[in-house]
Amino acid sequence: MAKFTRRRLLATAAPLAATPALVKIASGEAQASEDHGRHLATHEGHSAHGHAAMIGADVPAVGGPNDLDALLLPPKPLPYQPGRVREYELRALDREVEIAPGVFFPAWTYNGTVPGPVIRATEGDVLRVHFTNAGSHPHTIHFHGIHPANMDGVFEIVDPGTSFTYEFEARPAGFHLYHCHATPLKKHIHKGLYGAFIIDPKQPRPPARELVMVMNGYDTDGDGENNFYTVNGRSFYYARYPIRVRRSELVRVYLANLTEFDLVNSLHLHADFFRYQPTGTGDHWEYTDTVVQCQGQRGVLEIQFANTGRFMFHAHQSEFAELGWMGFFEVVD
Ligand code: CU
Ligand code: CU
Repeated sequence: MAKFTRRRLLATAAPLAATPALVKIASGEAQASEDHGRHLATHEGHSAHGHAAMIGADVPAVGGPNDLDALLLPPKPLPYQPGRVREYELRALDREVEIAPGVFFPAWTYNGTVPGPVIRATEGDVLRVHFTNAGSHPHTIHFHGIHPANMDGVFEIVDPGTSFTYEFEARPAGFHLYHCHATPLKKHIHKGLYGAFIIDPKQPRPPARELVMVMNGYDTDGDGENNFYTVNGRSFYYARYPIRVRRSELVRVYLANLTEFDLVNSLHLHADFFRYQPTGTGDHWEYTDTVVQCQGQRGVLEIQFANTGRFMFHAHQSEFAELGWMGFFEVVD
């Protein structure tokens, strides 16, 4: 059987007509590549829709306008209060997730979504995470941050049907991650066991419209290369449903890279510049329109848009953008 690499797929996809086909993908199926090629053709303007199809109702993205709110909009920050305990419940669940129309990925999830829920605490809180493994493989939760060795989610493997409670002081302030650390690590991460972990500084950040963006990829044909790229789990979702913000408001984006297989991912914003604080820690801010993150890197981005209108944001790796990692801000007065 001929092995179609992602790049060969791209090369052959262009002339195909745009017909988002419905097919259920088991890993390793060549069918996935063909249908995916048709989605691609839509976005490359080979359909009758042309560039208008890059935004709004014609964009083939899964679901309704508020489906991803729980991942995009983090819980509210709480002011520092000594001795407070923040509790979360996480369950590992095997779940098929629809990542593009008709394209199902057999994911391993925390609480049923890829990425998992946003965990938030204030520096100095006691974070208590009750983890139950209701999936079919052994898993853990490994948090980034400072904590004791036995809370690190590496050696305390949580077998299916068992539970573990992680408890530690949330520090340092910043934007962190959590992910499974069972082996093979690459597989456990790529299957979907990861999420965003915000630790607010004791001295709060200025009030803002806050958004979380977790960049990822999916290898749907099992060849060790991603076939789809997304923010918050669904290809082209924010092209189908642009993120509305006000010109006057401060917009803060918590941006993380949980892409497997590809060494880096990136975010590029059109027609404006933002401030970027790597890892959400320290005093260093960069002023730019493009940031690059290695696997596991993350940072905090702040912007007040200068103009109203539609502004694209996407991975600056053009290939990732064409495979789903593209969206829009709709800036209004
Ligand atoms: Cu795992
Ligand atoms: Cu990590």
